[in-house]
Amino acid sequence: MGLVSDVLASAATEAHPFRLLDVGTGTGRYLDMVSARLSATLVTDLCSIGLDRSPAMLGQARRLNKCAYPGASHLVGAVETLPIRAASCDAMTCFNAIHHFDLARFASEASRVLTPSGLLVLYTRTAAQNRDTIWGRFFPDFAELETRLYTVSELQKALDATDAFASVRVETLRWRVTTSLSRLLEQVAAYHYSTFRFYSPDRLRTALDTFQHRVREVFRDCSRITFSNDHLLVVAQRTAVA
Ligand SMILES: C[S@@+](CC[C@H](N)C(=O)[O-])C[C@H]1O[C@@H](n2cnc3c(N)ncnc32)[C@H](O)[C@@H]1O
Repeated sequence: MGLVSDVLASAATEAHPFRLLDVGTGTGRYLDMVSARLSATLVTDLCSIGLDRSPAMLGQARRLNKCAYPGASHLVGAVETLPIRAASCDAMTCFNAIHHFDLARFASEASRVLTPSGLLVLYTRTAAQNRDTIWGRFFPDFAELETRLYTVSELQKALDATDAFASVRVETLRWRVTTSLSRLLEQVAAYHYSTFRFYSPDRLRTALDTFQHRVREVFRDCSRITFSNDHLLVVAQRTAVA
C-alpha cells in the first residue's frame, strides 16, 4: 500500500486536513493501512472516512480499526448516491470493490465529491488478471463465474464520460504472494471472494476437492505456496476547475 499512499500524499496541501474517502471499504483493512502510512508522512492532518453499504462490514471495521489507524470514521451509504457534500474529498480510494458498483453512477458521484485536482484511486482486477490468479488457474469455474470485473476500456470510458478528469493513468501491479494450502482453504470457507457465493454448497464442496487435488499436484510443499498476483491501479485526477 506504500505506492497508493505515495500517490495520495502528492495531492495533499497544507491548507486544510487531507480528506480521504475509501468506498466499498468493507472491514477497512486498506483504509487503515493507507491512513496509518499517510498520517506518518503528511504534514497536514488526516480525516479518513470508510464508506460501505453494509452496516455489518462497518461494524467489523470499527472493531478492527482500533489497532492500525485509530482515527477513521465510518459511514453507511451507497456509492451511487454518496451521502457526501460536493467538492469535499481530496482523494477517493476503492479497493477490490468497483465490480460491485454501477460504474457510470459511481464515476459521476466520484467526480461530484472530489475537490478540484482531487485524486481517484482504483485498485481492481481485470477478468484476464483474475484468470491468472491461483483461484482462476485451479479452482473449477472460478474465472468463468466471475463476470462482474470491468475491462480497462470500460473504466476509462466511464471516467471520460464525466468530463471531470484531466488525466487517467492505468498501471499493472504485480507481486509475489506466499501462503499455504490450509490458508487458501480457510479463505474459501470464509467466502473471502464473493465469487464463491455463486456456487451452491454442493458445487463448492466438489470444486474445493478438485482445487486441493490440483494444488497438491503442482506445488510440492503445500505449507509454502508462492505465486504471482496482478492487479490494476487506476489513478484519475480531477480537473483543477470544478
Ligand atoms: C470485496 S469487498 C472489498 C472490501 C475492501 N475494500 C477490501 O478490499 O478488503 C466489497 C465491498 O463493497 C461493498 N459494496 C458493494 N456494493 C456497494 C455499493 N453500491 N455502495 C457501497 N458499498 C458497496 C460491499 O458491502 C463490500 O464490503
